[in-house]
Amino acid sequence: MDPSPLKYNDAGVLTHENFISDWTKFVEVYGNAKAAEFLEKSNATDLPDVVSIDLASDCNLKCPMCRYHGSDDARAHYAGRHAEIDDVVSFFEKAGGVETIAFGVMSEPFMRKDIWDCLEKLQPLCKSFEFSTNALPLTKTSIQKLARFNVKIIHVSCDAGDAEGYAKWRAGGKFSQFQEKLKYLADEFGDRVVFHAALYEQNQESLLKAPAFLKEIGLGELEMVRLFETTVSKMNGLKRLEGPGLISYLVKMLETCDREGIKLTYGLHTLSPEDAEAAYRATGGRLGCQSYHEAMSIHPCSMPWDYLGFQFGGNVKFCCGGVDGFPTKESPFKMNPLALVNSPVVRMVRAMTLAGFTPTGCSLNCGKKYRPTI
Ligand SMILES: C[S@@+](CC[C@H](N)C(=O)[O-])C[C@H]1O[C@@H](n2cnc3c(N)ncnc32)[C@H](O)[C@@H]1O
Ligand code: SF4
Repeated sequence: MDPSPLKYNDAGVLTHENFISDWTKFVEVYGNAKAAEFLEKSNATDLPDVVSIDLASDCNLKCPMCRYHGSDDARAHYAGRHAEIDDVVSFFEKAGGVETIAFGVMSEPFMRKDIWDCLEKLQPLCKSFEFSTNALPLTKTSIQKLARFNVKIIHVSCDAGDAEGYAKWRAGGKFSQFQEKLKYLADEFGDRVVFHAALYEQNQESLLKAPAFLKEIGLGELEMVRLFETTVSKMNGLKRLEGPGLISYLVKMLETCDREGIKLTYGLHTLSPEDAEAAYRATGGRLGCQSYHEAMSIHPCSMPWDYLGFQFGGNVKFCCGGVDGFPTKESPFKMNPLALVNSPVVRMVRAMTLAGFTPTGCSLNCGKKYRPTI
């Protein structure tokens, strides 16, 4: 069965249709001449610094919050996508290389056995690699092998701070195995390993135990983002924290991290403008702050397919999901990199955000404004 590319639009991935109707509003507000001027300025002559990719769509876990793997339906929808390593390599050759290639957007990167061959071939084409992983497929030997590459950062995802929480929120994984892998990673990569968690109502208590756990392992940083609510997370009964409940939780978590000597970061791009400002006040400026986006991520390829994301400016990781629906089923890695990044809808999105106009889809996600940059 050919899965409808529209079926998972409510997975939080914004569609071309969203942006085309925003563009109509944008042209009404700014006028044809100004809109054309912004469109002209949106032309990218290079790939952005960070290009996020997946080599396949498989995962060993079934985390209930995950829009790609959190239900049987979602897993079936996204299953069975595999990119050819040669296509991936030739894509980055055509691009003339990039700063950072980031693995792990919708899948578990270390499930792909030939990832090592891929890293070998991509190393001359980028300054560094970045990974998002649940760490379970890694072994002590493969972690040592990984240390031979230029690794900038490894985000190890875990939405719990104890075995009980792990069994629920990282369904399919064993906490004792996770602990063991995390320890190997900490020993090999030190502060390049960051413990990453999505925060929601149900895992908040378990996550409060993470700082003590990290200290014991020898890690120093915990990064959290707000749960991105999708059909799958709602179906699994998960609710995001926001408003006063979120702010008092962040204060408590900050105190816990301070006690254990752990640095806490909270993804600003996943705070609403009100929560960003309230968190700033409640923590004496240590969390939260301004209410603007500083960057955005755009995924210009069709879903389900190999996932390819571009970041323009700033350092937004795990943003709201970007733009879906590049109208092709062809692997994006077979395409011309600059043509992809300059595809018509991507340029419209860039033109709007460069002008400081917030597309509706972005307002629905976190409501922050884009700071005009031209
Ligand atoms: C989809 S995973 C792919 C990489 C790898 N399997 C992992 O778990 O890190 C990429 C990131 O998305 C995050 N994520 C998944 N579903 C989410 C949701 N509903 N809200 C916020 N973050 C989510 C995960 O925590 C993970 O850090
Ligand atoms: S490990 Fe990552 S990709 Fe796999 S189910 Fe969990 S969040 Fe999704």
